[in-house]
Amino acid sequence: MEKPLTQHMRGDGAPLSLKEYERAGGYQALRKALKEMEPKAVTTLVKESNLRGRGGAGFLTGMKWSFVPMNVPKPKYLICNADEMEPGTFKDRILLEQTPHQLIEGMILAAYAIQADQSYVFLRWAYKLAAKVITQAIEEAYAAGYLGKNILGSGFDLDMHLHTGVGRYMCGEETALLNSLEGKRATPRAKPPFPQISGLFGKPTIVNNVETLCCIPHIVNRGTDWFKNLSPGADAGTKIYGVSGKVKKPGAWELPMTVTMRELIEDYAGGMQDGLKFRGALPGGASTDFLVEEHLDVRMDYTGVAAAGSRLGTGTMIILDDHTSVVGFVRNLEHFFAQESCGFCTPCREGLPWIEKVLHTIEIGEGKPEDIKTLEFHTKYLGPGNTFCALAPGAMEPLQSALKYFRKDFEELIRHKISA
Ligand code: NAI
Repeated sequence: MEKPLTQHMRGDGAPLSLKEYERAGGYQALRKALKEMEPKAVTTLVKESNLRGRGGAGFLTGMKWSFVPMNVPKPKYLICNADEMEPGTFKDRILLEQTPHQLIEGMILAAYAIQADQSYVFLRWAYKLAAKVITQAIEEAYAAGYLGKNILGSGFDLDMHLHTGVGRYMCGEETALLNSLEGKRATPRAKPPFPQISGLFGKPTIVNNVETLCCIPHIVNRGTDWFKNLSPGADAGTKIYGVSGKVKKPGAWELPMTVTMRELIEDYAGGMQDGLKFRGALPGGASTDFLVEEHLDVRMDYTGVAAAGSRLGTGTMIILDDHTSVVGFVRNLEHFFAQESCGFCTPCREGLPWIEKVLHTIEIGEGKPEDIKTLEFHTKYLGPGNTFCALAPGAMEPLQSALKYFRKDFEELIRHKISA
């Protein structure tokens, strides 16, 4: 299979230089778009490609761009969300560190489509190597005339800046990210208005994930049919999947979206480590529902995973094995979410530490039978519609599905008063 994203990589972990990227066909899509395509035509192409956002939510990228008003005064903003902090997720890091010009070209094309004149890479604080690589690549792109004034003689202007975050999960939520970029406290904003209408400094803004933007040059170069045919199924294109947990070969692979969970675990991650059995998996980072053995043949596309009762999320799976305490596993995740709550709304701020405490009590053999009801109540109380953003509802996904599939594990610790 021809791989659109990782084909522009050296394979040894080092970043592809500008010259190497150009030799591999890099920046041809930009030349083509600036010469032959109206901005609107780029949006239409991306819309027709069915590309869905790879940050986790899977919103249609072209549709998102189409909401940006075109005939309004500048500035307009294009932001790459590179604040990759979902637990178990390390796919954007690979693209950032190894193929920086592919991302920059994708960003310039996206900015051209919406006619943005300013762009930012909002980078996770801990990604030090990526910061170095992206800084150098932006400088190279300016020097080569791909950024700045009158790009390639087209009359289109674009500036690009790298902004490193402060190491908080919340900054990856797009409106909290905008507040953070404006120098404010990173709390989410009410939506609507969506950033497409009123984003950074109140101006029209698109926020797209790294992997999403890396797809754009390939779609412009090769067209929508090619992109759709990479995954003859419900969703288009390839996806960078990851597997972590106690498998033999944890890692990340770019694959068609027809791959099943079983193939990912057995063929790519080498199967479970010796002596361990698969019990379940969070298919796309920590804020997704568990899938279990009966779901092993589910296709890892947005539609397939949703039909099985979870979400594809970031597509980077965390495996639960039979030697790991389910209660401890979920408690550890809830600890992360409680710590990363921005504290803005009450259910999230107060509810998550409470859940962590209840789980800890069960984990050390001091739980009470009514604790399960308390946890169940909280999965609704912190669920969709009751909080300001997706953090707490996301945090409830592993808990509610653990109570569904692994309830006995909770009950036994409580009944026998044993620690996990
Ligand atoms: P969301 O569904 O609210 O929005 C997704 C995107 O679609 C946004 O850009 C939003 O502006 C746009 N959108 C949604 N509805 C729209 C409408 N009616 N009109 C116009 N635009 C609309 O999801 P959200 O809260 O942005 O993201 C949640 C996801 O983020 C989760 O699924 C989670 O998996 C993922 N996530 C990923 C992380 C990472 O490190 N990659 C970290 C944390 C969460």
